[in-house]
Amino acid sequence: MTFRVHRKTVTESTNLDARAGVHGDVYVALEQTAGRGRLDHRWLSAPGENLTLSAVLDVSRLDVAAAATLPLAVGLAVAAALERLAPGLDFRVKWPNDVLVGWRKICGVLCERRGNLVIAGIGVNVRQREFPDEIAFRATSLAQQGIEVSLDEVERALLEELGGVYDRWLAGGFGALLPEFARRDALKGVRVKVRQRDDDDGVEGVCGGVAADGALIVDGRAVYAGEIGPLNLDPARIV
Ligand code: BTN
Repeated sequence: MTFRVHRKTVTESTNLDARAGVHGDVYVALEQTAGRGRLDHRWLSAPGENLTLSAVLDVSRLDVAAAATLPLAVGLAVAAALERLAPGLDFRVKWPNDVLVGWRKICGVLCERRGNLVIAGIGVNVRQREFPDEIAFRATSLAQQGIEVSLDEVERALLEELGGVYDRWLAGGFGALLPEFARRDALKGVRVKVRQRDDDDGVEGVCGGVAADGALIVDGRAVYAGEIGPLNLDPARIV
């Protein structure tokens, strides 16, 4: 598939702009005044330094459960795009859809369903070298990793990969992407705690990977939603 790109210098959130879009529209901004993350978090991104965009994708050909796996596919597309620009780095996908390099987050994905459409909001840290204290210990960027590229280059690679991954996902569901996801899976073999809310006990165990229906397998149990706490990403806890 191909995309139609709409650009703004400043906006509140490209995910909000994308509500006006149809399948194939992409909204890009150099600065977001109210960038949004998953679970009502904010997305902090230095103006003009990072890629912040939202793509509108039709998911009506898949049933609701199958369509819910699109965020996993989006994370995969980002990892593939970044690997094209930085072949020496090991980009990993952390279920459900963060992209990590060296256990630090380089990209976040916020997918929001609206009827037959999904708004896939993608934030990639490209040129930002310093991050606010609250995220500095777990964030990184291509520049911090020694890769100097323009936002245009990242956007081009990302939209090419996203188009290709979306087509494969539409034709074969997430199962068609599973081998690639397994190759990039950050959590397989790692002890994790998955929480639905900040105040619940969560499900703790060793991650066995991701299933074809998109579930995270934790000690043999399938988990369909939740968040892996940053503390669980300490490499010392890899089993
Ligand atoms: C997360 O990791 O919590 C998801 C972050 C998603 C950020 C992107 S930036 C482009 C789009 N617009 C937003 O307001 N959020 C997403």
